Amino acid sequence: MKKILITRKLIKESEDKATKTFDPIFNTNDELYSQSKVIQMSKGCDGILTSLTDKMDQETINNLPDTIKIISNFAVGFGNIDLEAAKKRGIAVTNTPEVLSDATAEIGILLILGACRRAAEGIESAREGGWKWSADYLIGKQLTGTRLGILGMGRIGQKIAKIARSLGMIIHYHNRSKLSDEKELGAVYHKDIKSLFSVSDVLSICCPATKETENMINKETVEFFPKGAVITNVARGDIVDDEALIDALNRRKIYAVGLDVYKNEPNLNPGYFKIKSAFILPHLGSATKDTRIAMANLAIDNINEFLKTGNCKNKVN
Ligand code: DGY
Repeated sequence: MKKILITRKLIKESEDKATKTFDPIFNTNDELYSQSKVIQMSKGCDGILTSLTDKMDQETINNLPDTIKIISNFAVGFGNIDLEAAKKRGIAVTNTPEVLSDATAEIGILLILGACRRAAEGIESAREGGWKWSADYLIGKQLTGTRLGILGMGRIGQKIAKIARSLGMIIHYHNRSKLSDEKELGAVYHKDIKSLFSVSDVLSICCPATKETENMINKETVEFFPKGAVITNVARGDIVDDEALIDALNRRKIYAVGLDVYKNEPNLNPGYFKIKSAFILPHLGSATKDTRIAMANLAIDNINEFLKTGNCKNKVN
């Protein structure tokens, strides 16, 4: 049986599947392994099942044992892995697309609603007590008729668009290429981000973190938005320059944010804590039992398929 290092604790059903499929090394305490510990523990292994908390940078990958053939990431995003370094060492990298699109889109919608309808302030007031209903109390932004810009119209973006449309939002999007009419469903395509941001009353960031998208929300691009726009991010923190966004919130250029992901998680920029209109969640995108099981099972299947056939449909490098 192939020997696999699984760097984080999985839900029991998935650990049972791993036991049936491989000779796995589990992380029973769910300790966060250092990069050197991953290298050391993967000795004699054929593959590693990583999570987004494992920083598989060039140095780590270069020091992995020669027996490692695959790094299977337990996430759709793979910004934590240096794909080129893995490729150079002949190590395949895989991800877990599709199975988490619905759960992540639900959180994407929650971020939009939470930011627009001032949920953070509402929760705080309800807990503190002493609030009183009045005609102008915690007035927020209604979604009906509002323009939603989607940055990255992949599976998650399309699902968010579908739900948002049913809430009466008008969908605009930017992607590397225009979608077919069937997938676009009347959404308006924008070739560049300046054009998209200028019509985004609300933005939903759904694109992967890459060299091209890193800090795409920055000092310059934040000015492209209409005054009082709302920015939400269900993708990756690396896409946002936090200082620029926090400054725009403080100036009221940006009305509110809804964030599930951050640079340097879990140590998000403390500037967000001071902003009442920041609706912030601790990276819950895929956090439902069914989805987490489906993701882990897919990560296991990816290793199995790759080690058996030398290929795999979810290979990303
Ligand atoms: C992913 O799969 O990339 C998600 O962010 C995990 O929650």
